[in-house]
Amino acid sequence: MEIKGTTALVTGGASGLGAATARELTRRGAKVAILDLSYDKGEALASEIDGLYINADVSSESEVAAAVDRVVAELGAARIAVNCAGIGPAARVVGREGELSIDLFRRTIAVNLTGTYNVISHAARAMRELEPTATDERGVVVSTASIAWQDGQYGQAAYAASKGGIASMMLPIAREFARSGIRCAAIAPGLFHTPMMEGLPDDVTEKIVSQVPFPARLGAPEEFGTMVAQIVENPYLNGTTVRLDGAARLPPR
Ligand SMILES: NC(=O)c1ccc[n+]([C@@H]2O[C@H](COP(=O)([O-])OP(=O)(O)OC[C@H]3O[C@@H](n4cnc5c(N)ncnc54)[C@H](O)[C@@H]3O)[C@@H](O)[C@H]2O)c1
Repeated sequence: MEIKGTTALVTGGASGLGAATARELTRRGAKVAILDLSYDKGEALASEIDGLYINADVSSESEVAAAVDRVVAELGAARIAVNCAGIGPAARVVGREGELSIDLFRRTIAVNLTGTYNVISHAARAMRELEPTATDERGVVVSTASIAWQDGQYGQAAYAASKGGIASMMLPIAREFARSGIRCAAIAPGLFHTPMMEGLPDDVTEKIVSQVPFPARLGAPEEFGTMVAQIVENPYLNGTTVRLDGAARLPPR
């Protein structure tokens, strides 16, 4: 599907991979709405790219519904929806003192998995009202899993489960949306240089980089933004999750 002239909605667009995606889609001619909880960064990026910032929590269905309706009213329904909002906490299932991490598990699923589902449902509800493009498409939804979907490390039970859920729902959603001409796919990033990773000590980052065969470095957020654009532009890519990881495979810890 051609990006130029479309509206795009990018969640988590105030930072990291989402911000790079918002810039890349703008560069290719889309009008971009950023949905995030980070007001100052979101407003600043929206003014840089001449887009729209909406402060909303992806885990709240009513906030996502209202955000999608606002995009329809102000920019026209988004033909491109990109899910980048997410959190990446780590915790043992049973801690040293015997405490459990069930609340953290629930919160991780609520933001990463239910949040992605909320955005897919409401974005598709609005896309279905659009006329099909020259390629018979009404829209494309790209979501963000993680290589932890397949290589979950020690402490990543909640995170890996949330990302595995995203990967698992791509096929059934693509099958359901086929009749509406809406594609649905996910990217499973390896280790990218974003604020989520910047907090790590140097020796941890060095260890991570040593596990990436080629190119032996962290991924650049722009490479993620390019992948989103490539998925949108390739009509045959549907119902799947693509690893973008320099051939990295994560060890147990
Ligand atoms: N950076 C990596 O190496 C990496 C690797 C694999 C997967 N990912 C995934 O990519 C996505 C983006 O990560 P990033 O590295 O850019 O992180 P980031 O922390 O830089 O950006 C995440 C953004 O999501 C927003 N957000 C968080 N919770 C939200 C909520 N409930 N509602 C709305 N917005 C919310 C944050 O405010 C932030 O702006 C995440 O889903 C993450 O799990 C990142």
